[in-house]
Amino acid sequence: MKLWAGRFKKETDERVNDFNSSIRFDSRMYKDDIEGSIAHATMLGECGIIAMQESLEIIGGLKEILADLESGKLQFDPEAEDIHMFIEAELTKRIGDSGKRLHTARSRNDQVALDIRLYLRHEIADIKKLLVNLLETILQKAQEHTKTVMPGYTHLQRAQPITFAHHLLAYAQMFKRDITRLEDCARRMNECPLGSGALASTTYPINRERTAQLLGFSTPTQNSLDSVSDRDFCIELASALSIIMTHLSRFSEEIILWCSWEFKFIELDDAFSTGSSIMPQKKNPDVAELVRGKTGRVNGDLVALLTMMKGLPLAYNKDMQEDKEAIFDAVDTVKLCLNTFMPMIATMRVLPENMRAAAAKGFINATDCADYLVRKGLPFRDAYKITGQLVAACIEQGKTLETLEIGEYKKLSSLFDTDVYEAISLDTCVNGRKADGGPAEEPVKKQIDALKGFLAEMKE
Ligand code: ARG
Repeated sequence: MKLWAGRFKKETDERVNDFNSSIRFDSRMYKDDIEGSIAHATMLGECGIIAMQESLEIIGGLKEILADLESGKLQFDPEAEDIHMFIEAELTKRIGDSGKRLHTARSRNDQVALDIRLYLRHEIADIKKLLVNLLETILQKAQEHTKTVMPGYTHLQRAQPITFAHHLLAYAQMFKRDITRLEDCARRMNECPLGSGALASTTYPINRERTAQLLGFSTPTQNSLDSVSDRDFCIELASALSIIMTHLSRFSEEIILWCSWEFKFIELDDAFSTGSSIMPQKKNPDVAELVRGKTGRVNGDLVALLTMMKGLPLAYNKDMQEDKEAIFDAVDTVKLCLNTFMPMIATMRVLPENMRAAAAKGFINATDCADYLVRKGLPFRDAYKITGQLVAACIEQGKTLETLEIGEYKKLSSLFDTDVYEAISLDTCVNGRKADGGPAEEPVKKQIDALKGFLAEMKE
């Protein structure tokens, strides 16, 4: 028998029952639902809306239900409409009439808006921790490779020399931004919708400050209509998660390239690679590929949420029940990916000789050669042109700028002297880039220190 049976003359069609039910996916919010109900019952008792004795009975009953769910003594009823109805019905089964008073001055609309916030609050904290771990892992690796020269690319063409530390730290910056994005999101959703009722608050003399305080929110929300129709916090979190996945996916793409025979800049640990069922020589970067693939799925969750909300009139509509599967899937996927990605990075073997060999090809010191002429007084555009002609000469003669004879240099400009070889050596090229944010050891160490400072603040 449904709680709402009074209004109805017929039983709900079984198909509608299954279609309507969300317990399959919202049961994971059981702790949050109970926590919210305990705060609500406490406030109802304190405000004299229900008797103190009843409030205490409700709280006792809810605590028992929580314990029984955790121990497995109590199982979710798949026939229940949702987690909220399930717990309320179970409470009434256990404590009788007092249980029926819990829903005074409350609706499932403010209840569910509260529960998702409580649930996501913990998930955000977990994801932040995983990102902090990843950032630490990256910093560790970066510290080992401040002198490891590699080619930096644009258009996937060798461009200018950098170090592996510098490259890794670019990702550290992305994950740092991701952490702060999650913090922003958590701060904005830290308002308590409880007391908004179905849409128009309530006539009971409730104390919304009190429930907000009991549940650790900074303040109650300000508009009851907005409170029950708002899912911005899900969309905002989903978009932060999509951006995290975008970063993981770009990193994965590079890992996949780097461990190919064409690059061989790194070697993934056997424990984080997979083989082929037919080709005995294969060692595949499946983890990185799956992370890249799952990015599409998280983007899909974000688009599902945006599309689900875009045409909804205020206030609550049942469409909004679809919020949970999308945001839970996004959260689960990001956690799963971070959990596997981090140790893959921690265990990968870096191959500095191959990185250096690749940096030695492709004329990635051409800008430095032009800069050499600029230092000798030539305008950059002229220096650029002469260097272009030098590169063409090298290609014609099958040489590099390092191996081209000084005579050939002098043919193009009398400003060239034998000190050009020193000026265009890879180490000079990298170490010369000392500007803040650059790949030379000094600014890279500065960057590492700043990131360490960020992590230390994070742990306070
Ligand atoms: N299971 C519902 C959901 O997740 C709870 C809210 C139901 N409210 C309602 N008015 N039917 O959205």
